[in-house]
Amino acid sequence: MSGFLSIQGLSKNFGGLRAVDAVSFEMEQNTIHSVIGPNGAGKTTLFNLIAGSIQSDCGSIHFLNNDITSLESYEIAYRGIFRTFQAVKLSERMSVIENVMLGMHTKTSSGFLGGMMVSPKSRNEEVYMREEALRALKDVGLEQFALEEAGSLPFGSQRMIELARALVARPSLLLLDEPASGLNMKETEELTAKISVLKNRGLSTLLVEHDMSLVMEISDTITVLNFGKKIAEGKPCDIQKNEEVIRIYLGDDNA
Ligand SMILES: Nc1ncnc2c1ncn2[C@@H]1O[C@H](COP(=O)(O)OP(=O)(O)OP(=O)(O)O)[C@@H](O)[C@H]1O
Ligand SMILES: [Mg+2]
Repeated sequence: MSGFLSIQGLSKNFGGLRAVDAVSFEMEQNTIHSVIGPNGAGKTTLFNLIAGSIQSDCGSIHFLNNDITSLESYEIAYRGIFRTFQAVKLSERMSVIENVMLGMHTKTSSGFLGGMMVSPKSRNEEVYMREEALRALKDVGLEQFALEEAGSLPFGSQRMIELARALVARPSLLLLDEPASGLNMKETEELTAKISVLKNRGLSTLLVEHDMSLVMEISDTITVLNFGKKIAEGKPCDIQKNEEVIRIYLGDDNA
């Protein structure tokens, strides 16, 4: 056991459907660990369980040797686990930088709304939040659009704003749910490079993604789910050769 992220026998039922079925895996710190599988395999449900958006029926989740299985999502965020969503969730009428600042609610005593009040403490915090948000926007190459309305930016940039909003909290573990979905080839390449740079800076990323070239290029380890069950795990080169994975997921073209 690495002691970073440890998932043991995790299950979640929706009515009669076993969306996540006795899944166990270990994620090492400072790695990119991908979770792949066909539509409906249980990847987003697994993320929802780790992030505390939903509670498991059985099994456990340990993060940095602490049991976080039953914690609420805000408690999990305080412990350093942040996520992006499969569907972009931005406040379109707010500016780009304000959207990013929303990711900092766990880092300030007065919070984002408190930051709009006029006490000296909240003033200082607002200055700090803006600086941090600008830094995160710079990381994703969008600092020049900080004051634009978020909804006015193209889709690929909106996905990058979401990434900045997760990064601004300086996560210990970043959960990315299909970050390349809807991106064109150039944007996907830029995203791949950014995730690699973040790893070099010490970030650990759990990645759900359908874009196989991205997954194979940047993953240290890949866990494969099908109908909620883990069916394979290993390095990209092993997963590419795994016959069951080829059959159920990559399709006959890759056989
Ligand atoms: N809240 C819910 N209520 C009922 N069923 C759900 C719920 N959330 C997910 N499911 C079902 O659980 C299964 C796993 O869904 P999940 O969204 O985790 O899959 P996924 O691997 O993320 O798929 P995709 O690649 O399409 O995003 C699916 O059959 C889905 O319909
Ligand atoms: Mg999903």
